[in-house]
Order: sequence, then structure tokens, then C-alpha cells
Amino acid sequence: MVDCFYSGYDFRQLGVAKVNVLDQFSLCIRWSGDEINDAPALASADVGIALGARGASASSEAADVVILADRLDRVGEAIVIAQRARRIAIESIVAGMGLSTLAMLAAVVGWLMPVPAAIVQEVIDVAVILNALRALTPAFGHAGRHMTVAAGRELHRDHVALIGQLDRLRSIVDALDDATPEGGAALIAEANKVVQEQVVAHERDDEGTVYPRLARILQESHGLSAMSRAHREILHLARLLARVVEDLPLETVDRYLIRDAQRVIEAVEILVRMHTAQEEDIYEAVVAPTSV
Ligand SMILES: [Fe+2]
Ligand SMILES: [Fe+2]
Repeated sequence: MVDCFYSGYDFRQLGVAKVNVLDQFSLCIRWSGDEINDAPALASADVGIALGARGASASSEAADVVILADRLDRVGEAIVIAQRARRIAIESIVAGMGLSTLAMLAAVVGWLMPVPAAIVQEVIDVAVILNALRALTPAFGHAGRHMTVAAGRELHRDHVALIGQLDRLRSIVDALDDATPEGGAALIAEANKVVQEQVVAHERDDEGTVYPRLARILQESHGLSAMSRAHREILHLARLLARVVEDLPLETVDRYLIRDAQRVIEAVEILVRMHTAQEEDIYEAVVAPTSV
């Protein structure tokens, strides 16, 4: 059986038809979506995953799994939790039935009297229930690994500085609305300098230094893969902006060129702001509560 994952973000227009076509090929379909129009696809999929569901929306009602945070990287975490819960359930069933069978055989050959047999059965039941309750403990225990508060604060300080630069990008985007050609060219060049020297440097450091540390703490890296994809997208937009600036004819900058550059700068600003907020969530989760 092929195991595949589809997101309503990409296949929204195909919806249930896509699920039905894939179903004919015996694929195990996981479908994720976040809106009412994803509900039929979520209900038809083998495993429907609703993202960012608030309250009793149609998508959360139809889905098998509801992830309250609107983050695709949490899907990997949900899969690990589900696989672990299933493993614990199978362990408990096999152990409970096996021990009960042994106790019955012992009773049949007369090694176990009725009252001790009843007590043994109760002990088996309690042991199996306690084992099953392990499913309620966190699947990602970090095994005692945390980031120190000092390291967390340092990363937060970097983000505060980065957000200051994003605020400057936002003001440049706003100023480009009414900028003259000469003024617009200067603003675009300034925005490019901020993006190349501050934003790109920060995201490269995240990818090369911070994420490997996080992966060691989380003991897995697939949860960070969506964040790494955001890094690639930010770097791609930064390259696009650099090309726009290279091709900017300073003497004949027209409104269309300014609009193009404005759109790219705005895309960088919005994407980095959202990405930084997600990283803050992750850092907060891995900082040790009492370490200094
Ligand atoms: Fe980052
Ligand atoms: Fe960051």
C-alpha cells in the first residue's frame, strides 16, 4: 500500500474527486484542510486532518484528527503520537490476553484456585490499564533535553532586532505608494540592503546553527522541515529582490517597476514575520522552565 499525504492547500479545487480517484488505486490518503469546503474531502480520506480548526466547524467535525495550531509541521507530530498510541494499545491487548490465557491454563490444571485466580485477573487488568495510560504521556519527552533560558533569550533578542528591520521594510512598502521615481529607487535599494544583510543573514544562521540544535533537543528533525522550507522560500524572494534591484534602470524607473519591487518587499516582510512568530512558539516550547 502506498502511503501518501495531500493537503487541502494544494488540492482544494479537486476535493472529493481527487480523494476518490486516489482511492481506486488503494492508496492510504491523508488529507489536511482548514476550511468548510475541505470537509467532504476530509470525511472521504482514510485519515482526515483539520488544521487550525476553531470551535465545532464543519472541517473539525468531519476530520479524524484536529490540530488546533494552524501549522502544517504539527502533522508530523500528530502522526508520531498516533503511531505510538497504536503501539501501546497493541502491546496492552497482547499482554492482557496472553497473561489471562496463562492464568486460565494454570487454573485448568489446578495450579490456581478460584479466589487467587480472581485476584491474579484483577492484577493483570490493572497492569494492562496502567500500561495503556502511557499513551497520555507526551510523545516528545525531550528526554530531559531543553534549551537554557539564556539561550532562549538570546534567540528572542535576535528576533526582536529582526522585527525592527521588518518594521522598516513595512514603512518602505507604505512609502513606495507615493514615491517619486528617484525616491522609489532609493527606497527599493535600502529595502534590498535590509533583506540581504539582515533577513538573509538571520535565516541562514537559523538554518545552519539554530535548527541543528533544536533537532537535537526535539530528537527529531521532520517537525522542522516545514520551517526549513520557509527559509528556502525567504531566500528565493531575497534573490528575486536582488535581481529586481540589479535590473532597476535608475534614470527611468517607472511606476510598474516600483510596484513589482514593492510586491516582493511586502512578500518578504509578511513571510518573515509569520515565520518568526512560528519560531518563537517553538523556542518557547523547548526552553527549560527553571534553568538559567
Ligand atoms: Fe528562521
Ligand atoms: Fe529566526
